[in-house]
Amino acid sequence: MAATICTKKFLLNSGFYMPAVGLGTWQGQVGSTAATEMRDTIVYALKQGYRHIDTAAVYGVEEIVGDAIRMSGVPRSEIFLVTKLHSTHHHKVEQAFKASLARLGLDYIDLYLMHWPQSLTEDGKHTDTPTPAETWLAMEALKKKYPDQVRSLGVSNFSQKTMDELLKVATIIPASNQIEVHPMLPQHELIKYLQEKGINVTCYSPLGQYNSPILKHPSILALAEKHGVAAGQVILAWEVAKDLAVIPKSTNLKRIVENITYPTLDTEDIRVLDQFYKGPGLHRRLCQINGGTPTGHDIVMGWTYEQLGWEPYTIE
Ligand SMILES: NC(=O)c1ccc[n+]([C@@H]2O[C@H](COP(=O)([O-])OP(=O)(O)OC[C@H]3O[C@@H](n4cnc5c(N)ncnc54)[C@H](OP(=O)(O)O)[C@@H]3O)[C@@H](O)[C@H]2O)c1
Repeated sequence: MAATICTKKFLLNSGFYMPAVGLGTWQGQVGSTAATEMRDTIVYALKQGYRHIDTAAVYGVEEIVGDAIRMSGVPRSEIFLVTKLHSTHHHKVEQAFKASLARLGLDYIDLYLMHWPQSLTEDGKHTDTPTPAETWLAMEALKKKYPDQVRSLGVSNFSQKTMDELLKVATIIPASNQIEVHPMLPQHELIKYLQEKGINVTCYSPLGQYNSPILKHPSILALAEKHGVAAGQVILAWEVAKDLAVIPKSTNLKRIVENITYPTLDTEDIRVLDQFYKGPGLHRRLCQINGGTPTGHDIVMGWTYEQLGWEPYTIE
């Protein structure tokens, strides 16, 4: 069957629906894009059927995202908008949330995420306080004070270790955890743990980020040829088939359409993609800030992999 536009949605534990496919808006440090180009591509994506946009205070594009939503003509009520609390603002959650709303020029946010478990001082230095649990309780207080402005709460970059700590104090279970997932980092165990708790998983860097080696690998190219699609479509179809949301970033008009148009994979295709990371040298993070370099590093935003509860990987 030909590839079709993905309209799948997930019911979050907060009672709201999240479209499976969103558009990422972080430009990264490599291959970055002018702000106006980003705005125009968000408008284009919304016109092509995207109904989920992922942004963050730290990406510096919230104003552009708000402008694009208004310019698109798509009703706000049809769009699922995610933004994130930056680590430098854990001590002032309400202020940071209101600043995001003002930059976006919108009345509410569909999903507000703690971007990272760890706190940083306002000038970007490591600090032990607030703890992730304390920040979560401040987010819960925000939700209780402004239930109409913040519809769902979630986290990002949480491992089983940091999620377990958070769940000891939480009275609201996070609706979603946004983590790095792609065939070189399938996160099978963490995803199983989260899905068993009813926590949605959203895959960031779902294609493996800029210049992804996955997209050039012969076994992925063979799957793409089998289905008559581009390599990226096979990868995203695999993630969505596993009930994961995806937020690929593209400012290329052709790839924006490809990234929401998927073939139907069979069980053998899924098995190949599930096992892909077991190939020599293929189990590693690709997002630059997470150690996605050939040599790797294990300190991310002031925390070690051990503090984050992230599994180390070996480059064979
Ligand atoms: N929570 C977090 O800590 C966190 C961290 C990282 C990212 N994110 C979010 O996740 C989003 C996506 O992640 P990402 O931007 O790191 O990586 P990604 O979406 O996996 O990859 C983006 C890169 O792949 C290219 N690309 C896009 N579609 C393609 C296709 N079909 N075929 C070939 N190349 C393609 C893009 O270039 P073109 O634009 O030229 O197509 C861009 O260079 C971000 O924008 C951000 O919203 C969140």
